[in-house]
Amino acid sequence: MNTFLSGIQSSGQLHLGNYFGAMRQHIASQDEEGEHFYFIADYHALTSTRDPEVLRDNVREVAVGYMALGLDPERVAFFRQSDVPEVTELTWLLSTVTGMGLLERAHSYKDKMAHGIKPVVGLFTYPILMAADILAYDSTIVPVGKDQVQHLEMAQDMAGYFNSTYGEVFVRPEARLPESGKMARVPGLDGEKMSKSYGNGLWIFEEGKALKKAVGRIVTDSRAPEEPKDPEGVLLFDFLSLFLEAGELAEWGERLRAGGEGAPGYGHLKMRLIEAIDEQFSPARERRRELLADPAEVDRALALGALKARERASATRDRALIACGLR
Ligand code: ADP
Ligand code: TRP
Repeated sequence: MNTFLSGIQSSGQLHLGNYFGAMRQHIASQDEEGEHFYFIADYHALTSTRDPEVLRDNVREVAVGYMALGLDPERVAFFRQSDVPEVTELTWLLSTVTGMGLLERAHSYKDKMAHGIKPVVGLFTYPILMAADILAYDSTIVPVGKDQVQHLEMAQDMAGYFNSTYGEVFVRPEARLPESGKMARVPGLDGEKMSKSYGNGLWIFEEGKALKKAVGRIVTDSRAPEEPKDPEGVLLFDFLSLFLEAGELAEWGERLRAGGEGAPGYGHLKMRLIEAIDEQFSPARERRRELLADPAEVDRALALGALKARERASATRDRALIACGLR
């Protein structure tokens, strides 16, 4: 039987990249047979968020977002990372068998340095905390976005170092990527990778005028509607491809390619995109409003999740402590 685990860092508003690249797979996996652990990586968020109010709001945003989008706390252990202190204990144990060289190779750390972000120790050891998250629950399948694959490989390496030193304590996890490449790198409004740090995101729950305004910002060019176009080079088409069924998408593609009289202009594509976003997310927006109005429901779900998570994590922690001679 598989144990599924994944998480998302609570460091800002959830955007379409987070949904298609990560959360959608997490939510879909709850229908598969096995155990399920999904959490809000709030300790990880602390490496970038310094304002306590903002951090609290971001945790709620992710909790409400996950539940509104369909994560079911009855079937899944849904919890906050910081409610499971065993994970930080495992982080220390793993750090004693992990070489500096492994962490120095982390793309995410190198990227942050390249962007001039202050290199705090927590940012450097981020992958160890993430490995502890994964290994604490004996996870076998970890659905993640492409940019998390290296972290997952590091978790496999750390499990290997520990096991080869102290015996079989940790289960080796495997990554599971989104099936389609287009979900693995959702473009932002400017065509670069969508990311909260680039200010090019489209918030999942955007609606009405604000949604119209955001879609209006999707970069286009000055070609006339009649001019035949390769849909591959039309950013709006990439956005549509996230939402439309294959048949309808192919039709839009053909009409763009053909050009001429009846060809759609960018305005048409934008209108269809807004409709498609509304169709997909309307029920989740409604559910989100209900959850925001009843914070106790979310708190109850997280408390229940924390109990389930701690039960498993404390067993793993005990196994690890015994193996290395601390008990
Ligand atoms: P951001 O880049 O906005 O800071 P995070 O690093 O917090 O996002 O990513 C959270 C999760 O969402 C990760 O699993 C990541 O793979 C996924 N993700 C983020 N942006 C994208 C994107 N543009 N396309 C696909 N997946 C993404
Ligand atoms: N690093 C992930 C993100 O940026 C969040 C995360 C923390 C995670 N621990 C994890 C994902 C363990 C999968 C497994 O969203």
